[in-house]
Amino acid sequence: MCGIVGYIGNDQAVPVLLQGLEKLEYRGYDSAGVAVFSEDGLKVVKSKGRLRVLSDLLDGGKALTGTLGIGHTRWATHGAPSDVNSHPQVSEGGRFAVVHNGIIENYLYLKQHLMRRGVQFVSETDTEVVAQMLEYYDKGDILETIEKVISKVEGSYALGIINADHPDCIYAVRKDSPLIIGIGQGENFIASDIPAILSKTREICRLKDNEIAELTRDGVKFYNADGEPVEKEIEHIEWDIEAAEKGGFEHFMMKEIFEQPKAVRDTITPRIRNGHIVLDDITLTAEELRRFTKINIVACGTAYHVGVVAKYAFEELLRIPVEVDVASEFRYRDPILNENTLMIIISQSGETADTLAALREAKRAGCRVLSVVNVVGSTIATESDDVLYTWAGPEISVASTKAYSTQLAVIYLLALYIGEQLGKFTQEQLSAYIAALEKLPEQIDEMLKHKENIQFFASKYFNASDMYFIGRNVDYAASLEASLKLKEISYIHSEAYAAGELKHGPISLIEDGTLVIALATDARLFDKMMSNIKEVKARGAVVLGVATEDKKEIAGQTDMVFYIPKTASFMLPSLSVIPMQLFAYYVASMKGCDIDKPRNLAKSVTVE
Ligand code: F6R
Repeated sequence: MCGIVGYIGNDQAVPVLLQGLEKLEYRGYDSAGVAVFSEDGLKVVKSKGRLRVLSDLLDGGKALTGTLGIGHTRWATHGAPSDVNSHPQVSEGGRFAVVHNGIIENYLYLKQHLMRRGVQFVSETDTEVVAQMLEYYDKGDILETIEKVISKVEGSYALGIINADHPDCIYAVRKDSPLIIGIGQGENFIASDIPAILSKTREICRLKDNEIAELTRDGVKFYNADGEPVEKEIEHIEWDIEAAEKGGFEHFMMKEIFEQPKAVRDTITPRIRNGHIVLDDITLTAEELRRFTKINIVACGTAYHVGVVAKYAFEELLRIPVEVDVASEFRYRDPILNENTLMIIISQSGETADTLAALREAKRAGCRVLSVVNVVGSTIATESDDVLYTWAGPEISVASTKAYSTQLAVIYLLALYIGEQLGKFTQEQLSAYIAALEKLPEQIDEMLKHKENIQFFASKYFNASDMYFIGRNVDYAASLEASLKLKEISYIHSEAYAAGELKHGPISLIEDGTLVIALATDARLFDKMMSNIKEVKARGAVVLGVATEDKKEIAGQTDMVFYIPKTASFMLPSLSVIPMQLFAYYVASMKGCDIDKPRNLAKSVTVE
């Protein structure tokens, strides 16, 4: 995580860097800093705390002048958040300043090696080792020096480097951490992500692993790891700048919740033509699909919860066995994979380190890899055999909402596509599923109109210290996401249980006034859920029921009900999640939490 940005041009660098860092704060916000070439040489200002602390220190830019600089917003991995551990990290002689996103895994070995040779370290960070090595190995040719250093470091890095001997250049290099180069007129940029530079330029280049970029005011030169010049394609970014702004909402999270009808529609509509699912973005043939004897799905966090829904959907519709894993477990469990396994990777950012490692593991084992990704051109998208993009637009809030909804939409499209290719449905069944899928955006839209009901419920219970979410089948899958959403932004302890598991232990936690949210939308299991609701009510629980609008009888057993429209059973999480996202939002808002930037979290987890 961490966000890096760099500017070289004719304007003052600090305001540009601060503006860019503001857009990257979602990547980490423990501390922030900048390094600028001023008239008096290389100057660094950095501080523990949010970006506004740095901005105050810099007096919005007046305190540090210069037209070339690099900046950083940190999510601490090595060394606690502190002034000295903030980036930029500077070499002992003060000639190199470095900003870094990633983890240098062998930093201790490298640090000891340098310390034995007399280099003095001041921070606990892994990044300082890069700054110190650059100075230690520098023999005058900066490109050679960078190549030498990156040949010695192991791990992941996106680095922005400035050097006192080249005060008219910024250098950038990356491996397994995102980094883009922005091309302007008389000015150029580096950034971890597009929103950081979108107000300045729409022309970008993406660095491949170990490619080096040399930015001057007049242009950018690219080199491969052997120092040979390489030509890069310039990509034009079409995004509406509004997409990266709050647009009148108090928080990005609420804006993104409200963007879901459009995002789901944008994801679905181009892929339904003349009553058929058309996935012309993938190359899998019907013959190849027939070969797969198993599907493995790997993801993290919210994306993993999409995978849990996908297991129910694929197994029900396709009758193919599906395994779902969180990526951090998958990569170390020695999974049984072969060329007859279809590996589905789900990731909003396309950069999550564990998920990327799982993808590589699957490729080594000969699997065909299909990824479901939001960020176009991200590493996971690039390394997959096939990509299905979720057209959600940029998701800025750390808590994922529209990515979840669009990932679900892609999973349904894929299940229906494979089912059609394998002849699993009659035309009538397919048409009914497609009709249900096409209806989702307006159903979500309609539910959002009743957000006050959820706000009212949140106002009664936002002080609860624990909450439990229960459900069966896809309702259990949606409960996992509901619980994660609540805990990550409101800091309330919450857990999701398969409702049938309650009696095997968790029911002992239920006492007078315990809040239980019961998702009972799946008609096939409604009666079973009613029994589970009675079980917790009998022990004093306060219950919010979520059910489809035809199941009015749930009102008699619960303290409050939120009704959702009916849809195909495997698509229910797309609707039941909406009140749950709103509930988490309102609870966090009433508790005064920092909704878009919850403590200890970052949007894009590019470290293991
Ligand atoms: C939760 C959340 C995280 C991400 C997870 C995976 O709201 O956003 O749990 O879902 O870190 O991230 P991606 O999808 O970028 O791989």
